[in-house]
Amino acid sequence: MEGKKKLMNPKKGLNGELNVPGDKSISHRAVMFGSVAEGKTVIHNFLMGEDCLSTIECFRKLGVDIRVTDEEVIVSGEGWDHLSEPQDILDVGNSGTTTRLIMGILAGRPFHSILIGDDSIAKRPMKRVTEPLKKFGTKIDGRSEGNYTPLSIRGGDLKGIKYTLPVASAQVKSALLLAGLQAEGTTEIQEPEKTRNHTEKMIIEFGGHIERHGDTIKVKGGQVLKGTEVYVPGDISSASFFMVAAAIVPNSRVLLKNVGLNETRVGIVEVMKKMGASIEIMESSKTGEPVGDILVESSDLTGIEIGGDLIPSLIDEIPVIALLASQAKGKTIIKDAQELKVKETNRIDAIVQELGNLGADIQGTEDGMIIEGKTPLHGGEVHSWGDHRIGMTLAVASLITNSDVILEGADAVNISYPTFFEHINKLLKK
Ligand code: S3P
Repeated sequence: MEGKKKLMNPKKGLNGELNVPGDKSISHRAVMFGSVAEGKTVIHNFLMGEDCLSTIECFRKLGVDIRVTDEEVIVSGEGWDHLSEPQDILDVGNSGTTTRLIMGILAGRPFHSILIGDDSIAKRPMKRVTEPLKKFGTKIDGRSEGNYTPLSIRGGDLKGIKYTLPVASAQVKSALLLAGLQAEGTTEIQEPEKTRNHTEKMIIEFGGHIERHGDTIKVKGGQVLKGTEVYVPGDISSASFFMVAAAIVPNSRVLLKNVGLNETRVGIVEVMKKMGASIEIMESSKTGEPVGDILVESSDLTGIEIGGDLIPSLIDEIPVIALLASQAKGKTIIKDAQELKVKETNRIDAIVQELGNLGADIQGTEDGMIIEGKTPLHGGEVHSWGDHRIGMTLAVASLITNSDVILEGADAVNISYPTFFEHINKLLKK
């Protein structure tokens, strides 16, 4: 990732309101479900980030007509059987969600496809998906016995499976549900901890049927899905950068509008409340994907322990939570978060090194990190490691440093939040 950016620090705090862009997880899924459903799907507030554009390109190569206008994305689905063998390699770019979920769809399609992505994707573990997909009866292979891209898939007649996920992963769960929808019989998946449930909700939105009993999810094969209208809420993972910024930059008051408040995604709200942040949630709609406004003001914070089944509900927010913890009094311990090592980068190493470069007292552990606060941060040169969430965390950190920060690899923000720097500037001007 190119792009060097000099960041400033504000005197008057961050003030005003923002509509953060659409949710990344839901945007991916809306294109995928729209592509295999019958009839038109209209997606409002779609996230035009690089990851979701990779998903659109992959489904176009599978023969789906997808139109992008200024207001919406229109997917003209013709059902599972109308996906066609791609003439070209499917390029997933930097997107783990595209890679893992599309495998679940391709597993049941009677043709050959090849998936490839960037240098980061080439290092991310895929056996967690390819292994259970093989149990359905599909042919799938890749480097290191199917663990890394390039991956090659020749879909087949699938038979439903019973499977317990070895890691709490919504991406793996979703891939298996997408295969299960095409398989003969019933597929039963058990998750070790509750992970984001957007796929389950979307199966219902598209007219399908799914059951959940405790930690077990059941889906019947042979389901025909119907195109629908999807309103994508603002992404709480994108909002989290401004929630933390408002809490740690003195004299701030930020209102984040129409943010998705799905119960499997709001771990950061619980953490901020426990740390003593001034945060108010105004829920406006509870149906489908719950949505509401989040108001955050500068606050005095205290360190806490974060672990266990809370982790999946805030896994993507941990880099920015580490920054928040550096401004909280006392010790914050983040544990049970070893999955961070296999995200876009090793996020434990990246955040420990880069926040450390700005003066934070932060130490990596086997499954997380330990942060001592409150520590004043200083300026310096830092790097995003090509990871959007590391880049945005460092940009927020620069708002409280005593001198300038140079952020290298700032372009990484385009993966999930192309208007991120514009939005910071908007709140600085008020
Ligand atoms: C996602 C699930 C999470 C998350 C990722 C998006 C999804 O990954 O970190 O950014 O859309 O399902 P895992 O489920 O692999 O933990």
